[in-house]
Amino acid sequence: MSTNSTTYPPLASIPHHVGIIMDGNGRWAKSRGLIRHAGHQAGVDNIRPVLEGCVEFGIKVLTVYAFSTENWHRPLEEVSGLMRLLGFTIRHRLHELHQNGVQIRHSGRLTGINKELQKQILHAIEYTKHNDQIILNVAFNYGGRGEILDAVRQVIAEGIDPETLTEETFSRYLYTGDLPDPDMIIRTGGDWRLSNFLIWQAAYSEYYTTPTYWPDFDKNELYKAIVEYNHRERRFGRILDGETTPA
Ligand code: IPE
Ligand code: IPE
Ligand code: MG
Repeated sequence: MSTNSTTYPPLASIPHHVGIIMDGNGRWAKSRGLIRHAGHQAGVDNIRPVLEGCVEFGIKVLTVYAFSTENWHRPLEEVSGLMRLLGFTIRHRLHELHQNGVQIRHSGRLTGINKELQKQILHAIEYTKHNDQIILNVAFNYGGRGEILDAVRQVIAEGIDPETLTEETFSRYLYTGDLPDPDMIIRTGGDWRLSNFLIWQAAYSEYYTTPTYWPDFDKNELYKAIVEYNHRERRFGRILDGETTPA
């Protein structure tokens, strides 16, 4: 992947998995006198440089929140615009992503998405499954509560003994499957909420929000977020420098 000449001082700790709530496309468009769809287009175009930044900084998994189950309640025109945009992106960007070693994953329900787009999503996953430069996990038609419910349904359907079910095995039934939990969740557009994003997996994620709208969020902003991450003390309920008692 191409990188620009700016050099960033190395950081002690790089999050392995970053989740981004790519919010603010509509406001970005409005502030420029454009229609909302132009904001979504600019938003999709912005994934590439941020992904490049992730590779440069050593992030191994990037999960981007692209369409929530609640977003179906938006006007039909906007919803179909977003669906078309995903199809267009897979058609026109898949080859390049593949050449750059990006492994594509999907988190969300396929049901509800039109059949043709479902096929494209499955093709993108299959086509890139052996790539190992970075995982780009696209949360599309994703809702955290629905994900937990789908996992519970599957656990019940498989007749798993409730007594033996652990948090670890349950996690494997989530859409994110074998992916590690996100270390950091970034939200652009200034709001301080998860909006149903990775609500199980983000239990101990470091949260970071910036007022910058998603289409303007660049590599420098990503670096700033990782600098902030380096200032966080992750305790996971323990006392730092104290003894750890096994539970
Ligand atoms: C995020 O941008 C993209 C999606 C939710 C699909 P928005 O469309 O929510 O932009 P704002 O929040 O209205 O500015
Ligand atoms: C969150 O943004 C969903 C995505 C970025 C895909 P929203 O704009 O849908 O969230 P709310 O409605 O402000 O909570
Ligand atoms: Mg929004």
